[in-house]
Amino acid sequence: MSQNNLFYQKYKVNNLNKRMSINTVKTYKAIDLFAGIGGIRRGFKNIFKDNIDFVFSSEIDKNAQKTYYLNYGEIPFGDITKIKEEEIPPHDIIMAGFPCQAFSVAGYRKGFEDTRGTLFFDVARIADFHKPKVIFLENVKGFVGHDKGNTFKIIKKTLEEMGYKIYAKVLNSKDFGVPQNRERIYIIALRDIDKEFHFPEPTNKTLHIKSCLEENVEDYFYYQGKPLYEKIKNHITNTNTVYQWRRQYVRENKNNVCPTLTANMGTGGHNVPIIKDKKGIRKLTPRECINFQGFDKKFKFPKDLALSHQYKQAGNSVTVKVIEEIARNIKNVL
Ligand SMILES: C[S@@+](CC[C@H](N)C(=O)[O-])C[C@H]1O[C@@H](n2cnc3c(N)ncnc32)[C@H](O)[C@@H]1O
Repeated sequence: MSQNNLFYQKYKVNNLNKRMSINTVKTYKAIDLFAGIGGIRRGFKNIFKDNIDFVFSSEIDKNAQKTYYLNYGEIPFGDITKIKEEEIPPHDIIMAGFPCQAFSVAGYRKGFEDTRGTLFFDVARIADFHKPKVIFLENVKGFVGHDKGNTFKIIKKTLEEMGYKIYAKVLNSKDFGVPQNRERIYIIALRDIDKEFHFPEPTNKTLHIKSCLEENVEDYFYYQGKPLYEKIKNHITNTNTVYQWRRQYVRENKNNVCPTLTANMGTGGHNVPIIKDKKGIRKLTPRECINFQGFDKKFKFPKDLALSHQYKQAGNSVTVKVIEEIARNIKNVL
């Protein structure tokens, strides 16, 4: 074969390989359960880009549904317990930051059956029917010790009996570029995947808290002139720290991180973290809470949504940056 011919053959093979690799990049179908404001969805989308399609979402809270619609253009289905698994479109990935509830174990452990009456049961029945490759679960750190470890054990057993291999780890948002102390357990269940999954290592590029703060915040958020001001003003002195009012005292969160944002902050008025800026002492705005969860600037709350709901939705959500790192490693094993 002449040099030219040899070159041409190699060129053809290379091109064929390229085309095949383009054609073999699969688009994964995903469903977003207990969707909240779509923090998990956002993290996966940022990594999978056009290779992920969301075919179903579910969220019971009408206000969260509004925020979801504004950001993703779809109104989630309501109560997940009210839809049959066969009515949900086929999918490869389930995402579920489900509420943690105790299982009633009647004397002996029956796995799947023991989960009946809990919201995990709904995740399990959907997974059992559709057999997706990936189930992504997120919960509070205390989940592993919940009900003396029983809750986690039953979930693990249920998923293993359905053919899944389970990986679980507690990760802290502050180790993944976002200045929030937020420890959460991430449970990844994989089936029919040969490669070993690994949780991401800390990226340790944590931004300064100031990167999450806004300029020109409305007077409403400042404490000057409000009853609490006299109690807190002498304790809140540092503009590089996030503080918390703990009923009787001010707690300073050192190490350049914001304390864990919670769903009930903003309802009692006590738990929204506090900072000092050029204008005075104030609580974080909902937008800043969203920044502390690693959402990008494109995320929006509906204009008419009460602040208490905005705080609740931000506190209930996940840190997008952590989800991105896990999603990247999931993509690598698919
Ligand atoms: C911890 S939050 C999950 C937040 C979400 N991962 C995010 O990033 O925003 C749990 C969500 O489950 C929703 N939920 C609770 N029970 C539900 C049900 N039966 N059906 C659908 N959603 C439900 C709650 O309203 C809440 O928004």
